[in-house]
Amino acid sequence: MRLSDDFPKGFKYLPGYFSPEEQKGLVDTLRYLVKEAPLFTPVMPRTGKPFSVRMTNLGTLGWVSDRSGYRYQTQHPETGQPWPVIPKVLQDLWNKVGDSPTAPEACLVNYYAATAKMGMHQDRDEKTFEAPVVSVSLGDTAIFRLGGVKRGGPTQSLKLNSGDVVVLGGEARLCYHGIDRILGGSSSLLKDGGRLNLTLRRISPF
Ligand code: SIN
Ligand code: FE2
Repeated sequence: MRLSDDFPKGFKYLPGYFSPEEQKGLVDTLRYLVKEAPLFTPVMPRTGKPFSVRMTNLGTLGWVSDRSGYRYQTQHPETGQPWPVIPKVLQDLWNKVGDSPTAPEACLVNYYAATAKMGMHQDRDEKTFEAPVVSVSLGDTAIFRLGGVKRGGPTQSLKLNSGDVVVLGGEARLCYHGIDRILGGSSSLLKDGGRLNLTLRRISPF
């Protein structure tokens, strides 16, 4: 898919960044890490409405959402344990495409069953926006929607296939984005179907 010229500067789309073999390796690693830090169902601040995605984190900090709000914290909310270390293959990805002098602190792992989606939002719970958010898609294809820095402006959509990498950096760092839907059954990478999305983030200023 070609990107139109009006994608914001700092938005990078790297289709097929990971080969099918690399994707399998990454899924094996994640399967192991998710045993240590199980997927949990976050709920919306105040209302307590459950998200349709399940999530966990890797790294020194992990993003969580519960009735008291959104935040980064050092421990898994259910096990109380520190999050597992971000695997080397993802640190290498950050070093290659992240355009940032420091290491990522968080890798949010979102699991989308075929019916899951994510509303338009900005990633703005970090204390610095100088580093990009680097995203990896694994499993079923997703319809990703990208807007501008203001809610409600024009948007465009992009199919994210297994192995694709997207970078939200520079002017794109605070662009609204979301997942309209998952194309269930479009990939056989995950044995139970669905999609994993990994987002590498820097939270603290350098
Ligand atoms: C996110 O915005 O946290 C996830 C985006 C995606 O699933 O591609
Ligand atoms: Fe996001």
